[in-house]
Amino acid sequence: MPGAIYAEGLVKTFGDVKALDGVDLDVPEGTVLGLLGPNGAGKTTAVRCLTTLLRPDSGKAVVAGVDVRRHPDTVRRSIGLSGQFAAVDEYLTGRENLQMVGRLYQLRPKAAKARAVELLEQFHLADAADRPAKTYSGGMRRRLDLAAALVVSPPVMFMDEPTTGLDPRNRQQLWEVIKHLVSGGTTLLLTTQYLEEADHLAHDIAVVDHGRVIAKGTSDQLKARTGGERVEVVVHEREHIATAAQVLRGLGKGDTTVEEHTRKLTVPVTGGAKLLAEIIRELDGRGIEIDDIGLRRPTLDDVFLSLTGHVAEAAGPDARDEDDESRPQGGKEAVK
Ligand SMILES: Nc1ncnc2c1ncn2[C@@H]1O[C@H](COP(=O)(O)OP(=O)(O)O)[C@@H](O)[C@H]1O
Ligand SMILES: [Mg+2]
Repeated sequence: MPGAIYAEGLVKTFGDVKALDGVDLDVPEGTVLGLLGPNGAGKTTAVRCLTTLLRPDSGKAVVAGVDVRRHPDTVRRSIGLSGQFAAVDEYLTGRENLQMVGRLYQLRPKAAKARAVELLEQFHLADAADRPAKTYSGGMRRRLDLAAALVVSPPVMFMDEPTTGLDPRNRQQLWEVIKHLVSGGTTLLLTTQYLEEADHLAHDIAVVDHGRVIAKGTSDQLKARTGGERVEVVVHEREHIATAAQVLRGLGKGDTTVEEHTRKLTVPVTGGAKLLAEIIRELDGRGIEIDDIGLRRPTLDDVFLSLTGHVAEAAGPDARDEDDESRPQGGKEAVK
């Protein structure tokens, strides 16, 4: 039986651009799917097709048991959508926005008011409830947007990059809210550019690139495919890069990546801290001075590099946002 969100062979073209090139998805009821991919991968297009905002050229989509192309109105009644195309009215206060959504969904005035109060509390917006939304910070607007999508607790939710552009604290807060939501049994499809976000929130992850799902699995499965943890070493002298690369190739479990201008070398490893100590000993033994060394989990860039042979940023200049410091800067090359 298909899940609460189901897609088969979804295709959508805009002129020459194949935004969706045959996307298949299946999200079991009560679970979270993270649709992970760089800018321009087709995430928003997929969400818009699944939420009836856009008609796919071909393929099938079923949401909450209802065919999206045949009965869009019925689908709309069972879903909530929050994200890049959200409808928060700038000139209304947070409270008014939420009450208005309640009224649109046919709640009685009293019930709409009560629901607004509940949500304002839950989303830490009570203090700002009576200020126009245009005075809200980015994080507050995201929370208001999410609250608006939850006024009538739909069984199936879509969130399109709910935390892009937020600072780490706001991102964490929103994660807590989303976790709370799905613990109540909501089925959720969430798009994101951050592996870490999918990691925290999603049961399953589908990696998309150029309108296709290029990998599927749990976060652990994807990371295992990507080679698990990474050791990152910054050597002091540029002349030592080649020798250090040789050492890492010997001890690592995959291609060593070299960033010449920052003198940074990265290699996938298994064996964690123990191996880290071994690498330090080995480099030390060859007289290579280290500026920095550490163990880190794979990033979206690593997953992409491993799956596609190119880094995620190749998709466009906006592929990262400013508060994200976890992703390495500059060009990288895999050294075989
Ligand atoms: N309305 C549109 N008209 C023309 N091209 C579009 C439109 N919407 C999306 N695209 C193109 O389709 C591709 C996928 O876009 P999108 O689904 O927004 O990606 P994502 O949400 O993953 O960043 C991109 O190349 C984008 O430029
Ligand atoms: Mg998008």
